[in-house]
Amino acid sequence: MKKSKIKILISAGPTREAIDPVRFISNYSTGTFGFEIARQAKRRGHQVTLVSGVTCLKGPVGVKIRKVGTALEMQKAICEEIKDNNCLIMNAAVCDYRPLKFFKRKIKKSKKAFNIKLIENPDILKGLGRFKENRLLVGFAVETENVLKGGLAKLKEKNLDLIVAAKISKFHSPFGSAKISAYIIEKQGKYQKITNATKPEFSRKLLDRVEGLWYTIFQSKQGR
Ligand code: C5P
Repeated sequence: MKKSKIKILISAGPTREAIDPVRFISNYSTGTFGFEIARQAKRRGHQVTLVSGVTCLKGPVGVKIRKVGTALEMQKAICEEIKDNNCLIMNAAVCDYRPLKFFKRKIKKSKKAFNIKLIENPDILKGLGRFKENRLLVGFAVETENVLKGGLAKLKEKNLDLIVAAKISKFHSPFGSAKISAYIIEKQGKYQKITNATKPEFSRKLLDRVEGLWYTIFQSKQGR
């Protein structure tokens, strides 16, 4: 069977949820993993679109890039781009919550403690899992315990085809770390454990799985 190229949408980096004009809530994501997956996918000849939160990284050559700030902006960009793609690799660390209120003026320092009320952001991937059609959906999960069990539960909950699940260790690893140890888990619970791989190495292994699934499940269906 001739291998056709896949149209892959990749999300990367953190989202930022503004509190006031100078402050925000975010997380430790640097975007390096998502950008590396995009670079490797492009190298393999796939058509790649990258939706990225704020990072200091340069987009890989030949990759269409859309820059966003908040989770809601990321949701809008992904929902627009998904129509032209047949695979989503959702690597972004989307903030689960955002401040209910944006203070238009900088909050003045005072000696009093104060509360910021947070509301839930939409789960972008879960939403897309409900309208999956012939698309391959890949998620990421970082857990402090029960990595395999937690990863598989998220894969099922969000109706994904694959999930990469890693344990959060000291110093916020895997965020921003050079090497990654993680499981690539499939729907049936079958998994591959990858230990101490560089991000390019891990990205290539992940893309091997994505291509394998794509060609067996989807391309064979289309060829019938
Ligand atoms: O935060 P959680 O562990 O549920 O993230 C698992 C997957 O869901 C990741 O791929 C992440 O990008 C995605 N996600 C999302 N929208 C959110 C939270 C997470 O798409 N609001």
